[in-house]
This record gives sequence, C-alpha cells and structure tokens, in this order.
Amino acid sequence: MLTKEDNDLLCRVGPGTPMGELMRRFWMPAVMSEELPEPDGKPVKVRLLGEDLVAFRDTEGRVGLLDARCPHRRASMALAANEKCGLRCLYHGWKFDVHGKCVDTPGEPPNSRIKEVVRAKAYPTVEKGGMIWAYMGPPEQRPVFPDYEFLNMAPGHSAVFKIQEECNYAQAVEGTIDTVHAGALHRSVRWDDPGTVPHEQVLYAQLEVEPTQYGFRYAGLRALPDGRTHTRITQVTLPFFTFIPPDGTQTDRKHRRLVNAFVPRDDTTTWHTQWFFDQARPIDVAFRLKEGGLQLNPDYTKKIGLKEEYGQDRERMKTKNFSGIVGVVMEDHAVVESQGVITDRENEHLGQSDVAIVTWRRILMKAARTLAETGKLPPALANPAIPWGDVKGVECVVDKGKGWREEVPLAPEFAL
Ligand code: FES
Ligand SMILES: [Fe+2]
Repeated sequence: MLTKEDNDLLCRVGPGTPMGELMRRFWMPAVMSEELPEPDGKPVKVRLLGEDLVAFRDTEGRVGLLDARCPHRRASMALAANEKCGLRCLYHGWKFDVHGKCVDTPGEPPNSRIKEVVRAKAYPTVEKGGMIWAYMGPPEQRPVFPDYEFLNMAPGHSAVFKIQEECNYAQAVEGTIDTVHAGALHRSVRWDDPGTVPHEQVLYAQLEVEPTQYGFRYAGLRALPDGRTHTRITQVTLPFFTFIPPDGTQTDRKHRRLVNAFVPRDDTTTWHTQWFFDQARPIDVAFRLKEGGLQLNPDYTKKIGLKEEYGQDRERMKTKNFSGIVGVVMEDHAVVESQGVITDRENEHLGQSDVAIVTWRRILMKAARTLAETGKLPPALANPAIPWGDVKGVECVVDKGKGWREEVPLAPEFAL
C-alpha cells in the first residue's frame, strides 16, 4: 500500500509537482508523426503533463510544440494559420516560429520592439520512431536523447501505436510490469480448462529484481522439469518505459519485441504508446490491431471503453477466454481503468508477486523527492554515457546451476 501522500507524489504530474518536475527532465513521446503528415498542415492540440499545447509542422518540416494559447491575448493557436515557417494567430496576426520566437506583430507600430520581448512557450522536439518527442524541462539541462533500439529499426520492422488510457499513468505502468497477470487476464482458455497454456500463462513465477542506473530489470523465473529455468527479463527505464521480452512459444512473437511508454496526458488520462519491432521480419500492423482488439476513434480514444464494459461477453467467458473481452490491449485497459482514474493505493494488499511494482514505485518516488529536495538528477539523466540502445527485454532458458544475471549480464555502465 501507499499512504495518500505517497500516492499523490507518485501520481500527480502537473507543473510544480515533484513527479511532474521529474518527468519534465526526460525526453517523452508526445505526438505521432502521422498526426502532422505535411508541412504547413493543420496544427494539432496536444495535452501533456496537464499542459495544453499545440504541435505543428512548419514549411521546412520542422515540428514546433507551443503553448496552446497565443502570448498576445490568449487566443487558440490551434486555430492559427500555419504558413511560411510559423503559426500566425487568427486574432491579430502575431506570428511565432517553432522555437516560440515572435517573428511578426502586424498591428504594432513599425518601430515597436515587442517582438524581441514576447515569446511563445515552446518545447524542443526530436522526431524518431514514428513519434515526435518533447523535452519540457529547463533548457540548459536538456539530456542526451535516449536512442533506444526500437527507434532504429529498418523500414517496416517497427510500428508505433497510441491509445488514450482513461486513468493515471502509474497504474498503467504497473499493469505491464506485472508478469503474473498474463496467466489470468490474458488466459486464452477458460479458467478451469486443462488445455495447453503457454509458459507465460503459468501464473507462479519467482521474481528477482535488479536496480540499475536507468531504472531496473526483473526476471520471472519458472522451473522446467529438466532442471533448467525458463527466464523472462523485463526492463523498466525511467520514468515510464517498459520493455517486454519476446514470447518464444508463439511463432508470431518469437523475435517480436514490445516497448510501452505511458505518457501522462494529465493526472487522470494517459497516452499509452506502444512500439512493436522485429529485426527478423516486418511488423504485421493489421494482425497487431486485431490481436490488441484496438478499435480507435480519430483522436486515439477507444470506441469501446468503461461505459460499454469493454464489450465483455459472458457467453464468451463460458466457452472461450477467461476475460470475455476481445484483444490483449483491451483486456489491459479494462483492468487498469477499472481501478479508478487514480487508484486508491491505501486500500490495496500487495503480495510477493508485486515485487516489481513496489520496486518501480520506490525508485520513481525517490528520484522525484531527491530532485525536489536537492536538485540532483537520477543516474539515468546524470550519466550521458548510458547506452540506451542496449536495453532489451530477453527471454531465455538458463542451465541448471547458472543464474540469470550470469546468463544475461548487465553492462557495467548500467550498474548502480
Ligand atoms: S491573441 Fe493572438 S495575435 Fe492577438
Ligand atoms: Fe497485459
């Protein structure tokens, strides 16, 4: 459990909150590249960490991320004209470039110097992996961009999805570092069906956690009859990325890796961003949409959600899968959204199977407190040499007498 104070510390991400300030120090996925398909196209409203922003692609293809309201008298910049390398506000025609620099104030006197004084709040962006990333922290402390493996795949070998999750980001993260839930929630047979269930669906696993500079990794260990140990290593990087290992028991998932980022839209909604990538073969996007059960509105909200009880079908529960819900992502969203928009951790009762979740909360809350109290950054940000590209989810079988840390050693640069 967490006290009400700690729960607030973990969950509140608006400007000035300790967690919000910590998150602002990281590069975060903000807008899908597909949302800004062309130069001088329609600007897009973006809500991130409780701030209302507008993103636009300028004449040269650069992406700006500005305050949603004009610095003059606060008209909406989402309504602005996007022309000749800047957004021109509809109200009085003031114009701002991707850096927030004011480049025109047509109604002001010719000798006015107001352009030099007024700026639109603007955050720097990087476009990579089908996503526009933003940095919302102090400009002078901008960290190295985390050049993850999934951002550097051959064309077609990576696909990114974004779905709005109707709850706080923290419970969404916790849902993916919860190895045991797969055997219950995602059970592809009825609960009492003795039919074959993949290893991932054997509920009990011994969990071992290893804190690292970037966050932590943990292993789910399941003993095999021949004395070897089936091992799944999940990586968790600050502040909200989870690296899920491939699943060797299923041909379509053998080499396919999955990374989640749970970007807080505000305290009660989250951008669930997912990359699927596979070095061996291209990603089948249609298959993945089907597998996830994803039916989305143009604004990336779900067509079937809490109100519709996620389309749960009681007949299906009797005859097909345990949840009665169609699609893995739908199942995940159903359970974490059902916890309430900000779950009440005062009343939870954690078991040994929740060790990874407890570790994640501790690391993140400690990092937020340390930054607030001392100004000190977590190692993930303070060490520019962290080889982010080497962070991988791994599935393997470890020989008898050997440990998983020996089988998949942690690079010395990552050790705490
Ligand atoms: S409010 Fe935007 S130019 Fe006046
Ligand atoms: Fe899941």
